[in-house]
Amino acid sequence: MTTTKPRILTGDTPTSTGLHLGHYVGSLENRLRLQDEYDCYFLIANVHAFTTLAEKPAEVRANTLGIVKDWLAIGLDPDRSTFVLQSEIPAIAELTFLFAMIIPFNKVMRNPTLKTEIDSKGLGDSYPFGFPMYAVGQCADILAFRPELVPVGQDQEAHIEMCRDVALKFNQLYSGVGNRVPAQDHVKAGGVFPIPAAKIGRVGRLVGLDGKNKMSKSLNNAIFLYDDAKTVQKKINGIVTGRASMTSPIAPDHLLLHYLDVFMPADRAAQIKSDYAEGLEVKDGVVKAELAESINTLIGPMRERRATFETPAGEERVLSVIHAGIKRANAVAEETLALAKKAMKLDFGARTIG
Ligand code: TRP
Repeated sequence: MTTTKPRILTGDTPTSTGLHLGHYVGSLENRLRLQDEYDCYFLIANVHAFTTLAEKPAEVRANTLGIVKDWLAIGLDPDRSTFVLQSEIPAIAELTFLFAMIIPFNKVMRNPTLKTEIDSKGLGDSYPFGFPMYAVGQCADILAFRPELVPVGQDQEAHIEMCRDVALKFNQLYSGVGNRVPAQDHVKAGGVFPIPAAKIGRVGRLVGLDGKNKMSKSLNNAIFLYDDAKTVQKKINGIVTGRASMTSPIAPDHLLLHYLDVFMPADRAAQIKSDYAEGLEVKDGVVKAELAESINTLIGPMRERRATFETPAGEERVLSVIHAGIKRANAVAEETLALAKKAMKLDFGARTIG
């Protein structure tokens, strides 16, 4: 008997040229760890990127290729996992439309993740219709692959919650699943969709170099996975501790300590923190150099591997990974769409998308 592994779906939006440490500790690390146990689908949300980059298609395209390079560089493996290019999976667009019919409009507009994004990006009320719609689209991204688990950073939790609501409602409305059936039993009870759970990474929300907001390219407070060693050092050096002398205390929730916890071996981080707390002589510059070195040890090999994709042969490899992924992804997503349409009594004709 062949066992089918449970599925994972997660993804990144190519709104930036590359992934940063926030992505790494929030989700990428989990993906790497779970690649063997799960049948993984990693989605590049290149249509969603147009929510803020509609006027810059070339940028979206370059970012899309950049994300795939980043993934390959950190060790996501397209032989074990499926890379999904959103724009080439028609079932995702169709499911978006279908799900839009069962999600209350006001619920979408109240989605806290959307609200935060509108604020932090300063969009005011001048965002396209597609901006709130992408939250519905994200439900389709996920449910098209009927996964059990969605590894994401904390900022995505509201989206996953909405996705769970959609799946529950869909199964109840169209698959006859009773409203007392617990989430984990929906498929057993005949539901088309499992009710997927969010899996938050080791660090759900990595604070950016500004010491305030979550690390994000658009806020200009990120350390990227492809930053060179000097850039990393420079960015870390830019963290201001504001101590008057080498024995002055540091705020216990200071960004520098947060980074020590996340990126240094636990015993070393604890040692430095206790030195600071006890008012021993601690040179910030020395701590920062050690922290930067630790980060560089982590991302150095990724950086080197990533450079190998910046060649014509590397670009070709990236495109062939994308093509193979599209094929595998469509097989699953088409199957899901057929099940969903059947449940909705929309099954009038078969089609094949290869
Ligand atoms: N919105 C996510 C982000 O910006 C990316 C994303 C798109 C995603 N579709 C997804 C994440 C589906 C998880 C599941 O980070």
